Amino acid sequence: MSTTYTVDSATSRATPTPAPMKRVTVPAVRARKGGEPVVMLTAYTVRTAQILDPHCDVLLVGDSLGQVVYGLPSTVPVSLDMMCAHGAAVVRGSYHALVAVDMPFGSYEASPEQAFLSASRILKETGCAAVKLEGGEAMAPTVEFLSRRGIPVIGHVGLTPQAVNALGGYGARGRSAAERQRIVDDAKAIDAAGAFAIVIEGVVEPIAIEITKSVSAITIGIGASAECDGQVLVTEDMLGLFDRVPRFVKRFGAISGEIEAAVKTYAADVRSRAFPTPDQTYAPKD
Ligand code: KIV
Repeated sequence: MSTTYTVDSATSRATPTPAPMKRVTVPAVRARKGGEPVVMLTAYTVRTAQILDPHCDVLLVGDSLGQVVYGLPSTVPVSLDMMCAHGAAVVRGSYHALVAVDMPFGSYEASPEQAFLSASRILKETGCAAVKLEGGEAMAPTVEFLSRRGIPVIGHVGLTPQAVNALGGYGARGRSAAERQRIVDDAKAIDAAGAFAIVIEGVVEPIAIEITKSVSAITIGIGASAECDGQVLVTEDMLGLFDRVPRFVKRFGAISGEIEAAVKTYAADVRSRAFPTPDQTYAPKD
C-alpha cells in the first residue's frame, strides 16, 4: 500500500495523510449537473497535485501521462503499474479534490471481471475515489458491473485516444450524421449503465450540447462545448509547457519560457562561477 494513513485515536478510523478536510465526493460532483461548472485538470505528480488541489473539484490522473511524462507515442503503452504509482502520488499531494485515475489500455476491455480486478487494484493502491475508462456501448456492461460493485466510473466518449490505431488520428469526431448519432448513443449507453460523469473529447459542438441535455451524468468537455457541466484540460498544455497544442487548448500560462530563462541564467552563472555564492555554501564552524 503506497498511500500513508494516520489513525484517528478518537474514532480509531484510519484517515489518509494529509487529511485536514473532507474531499469532494462522487455524489457532490454528480449534484453539480446543470449547476456551477465542475473544474477538472490532470495531475501526475505530488507537487502538481498540491498546487492544483485547492482550485479544482476533480484531479484526473490521466493516461496522457504516457505522452506528457514518459514521451511515449500514444497512451496505448501505458501500464497499470504507471497509473497506480502516479495515482498514489496525486492522492498524497491532495486533500480537497476528488481524485480519479484512468484505466490504461488493455486493463479493462476483455471483460467486466478483468475491469473489476484492475479498478479495484487502482482504488486500493492509490486511495482514489473513481476510475475513468474509454468507450461507449461496448463498455456499458463493464460500467454497470463496476458501478454496481461500488466503483464510481467516469466514461469517455468522442475522441478516445486509446483507440488511435482504429480512429487513424486525433482529429475531431462526429462530423458525419452517422458518427454523430453513434457518439450520442455511446454517451447514453454509459449514462444508463451508471457512469456518474462522462468526458466528451474532441467532438463537434452540437454533439456535446445534445449529450449534456440528454444524460443524467455530468458531462466534462475537452474540445467539446462551454455548455458541458464542467471542463478538463491537460495541465501541461494549459500551462504552456509545449510548443504545439491542440486547437481546443487555451494557454493560461507560458511556463516553458520561464523554465528556459531560469535554466539559461543558471548555466551562465555556473560557467562564470557566479553560482554558488557564499549564501549557498557551507562555512566551517571554527
Ligand atoms: O488522459 C487524459 O489526460 C484524459 C483527459 C484529456 C480527459 O483522458
